[in-house]
Amino acid sequence: MFVSGTLPGDALVRLAAKHEVVQDELGIAGDAFAAASDRIKGMLALLTDRIDDALLARCPHLRVLANVAVGVDNVDLAACAARNVVVTNTPDVLTEATADLAFGLLLAAARRIAEGDRFVRAGRWTGWTPTFFLGARVHGSTLGLVGLGRIGGAMARRARGFGIHVLYNQRRRLPEPLERALGATWVPSLDELCAASDAISIHCPLTTETRHLFDAARLAKMRLGSILVNTARGPIVDEAALAAALERGPLFAAGLDVYEGEPAVHAALLARENVVMAPHIGSADGPTRAAMAGLAADNVLAVLAGDPPLTRVVAK
Ligand code: DGY
Repeated sequence: MFVSGTLPGDALVRLAAKHEVVQDELGIAGDAFAAASDRIKGMLALLTDRIDDALLARCPHLRVLANVAVGVDNVDLAACAARNVVVTNTPDVLTEATADLAFGLLLAAARRIAEGDRFVRAGRWTGWTPTFFLGARVHGSTLGLVGLGRIGGAMARRARGFGIHVLYNQRRRLPEPLERALGATWVPSLDELCAASDAISIHCPLTTETRHLFDAARLAKMRLGSILVNTARGPIVDEAALAAALERGPLFAAGLDVYEGEPAVHAALLARENVVMAPHIGSADGPTRAAMAGLAADNVLAVLAGDPPLTRVVAK
C-alpha cells in the first residue's frame, strides 16, 4: 500500500504489521509512488493529493483510498466509484479541534488579537487610551453558521457558552429537538443569514455549488462591521472580493484557515491588517491528527481484510 506524507501516531506501524508499505514525503508526485502505483491495493492520501481518473488509471489494483481529512474535494468520487475504489474520510475525530480553531479565529478577528500582537512587537504601543484598538463585541452578538453539521454544531455549542445568539442556514432544516439542543435558529436563505449576523462562520463542504458562495455580491449582503470566519475550504470564498470587502466594507475583519490556492494567499489579503490568517491548521492538535491517521489506517485495513470500511464516502 502507499502512504502519502508523514503520519503522526502509530498508524504506519499498524499498517506495516499487515502489509507492505511504501511511504513518501512527496506523496503522489514522488518517485516512490511512480514505482509502486501499479501494485498498490490501498492508499492513504492527503488533501493536497489530487486523486483523479488519470491517477486511478495508474493504480489498477487499488481497492481503497483513505483520505486523511474529512473533506474529499481533492478526490474525484465518481471516478473512484466507476473503478470500484472505496473512498473513506475522517469525520468526527476532528470536529472539536476544528471548532476550537474556528472559535479562536472569531475571537482573534473581532478583538484584533493578532494585529495587537504585531503592534506591540513593533514597539508602536505608546499607552492606554479609551479609544485605542477598539474591536467588535463577541459576547451577546449573533453568529450565523453556514452549515450545521458536526463542526457547525460544535461551533454552536462554543458560541452558546459566550452568550452568542446562533442562526444557521443549510438546505435542509434540522429536526426541532436538535435545533433546540444546539440553541440554533434556522434562517431560510443565506442572504438573510448574512443580513442578520454579526459574524458568519463557514462549515460546509466545497462542491460545485459552494465554490465562491461568498463572492462580491454575497459579501455585500453581510452586516456593516461584521466578521467572516472560514475553516472549511478556501475556494468557498472569493479572496479578491473578500480583500475588497475588508478594505471598503462592509466587513470589519476576517479569520481564515483555508485559502483558494494553498499554500499561496492572495496578495491583497496579505496586505490587510484586519484579517487573521492561520496555515490550514484546523485539525492540527496532536491527538486529533493521530486519530485522523489512525482512522484512515483502520479504513484501509478493514477493506483489505474484506470488511466494510468504518467511514465510507459515497458520491452523491
Ligand atoms: C479536513 O479534514 O478536511 C481538514 O481540512 C484538515 O483537517
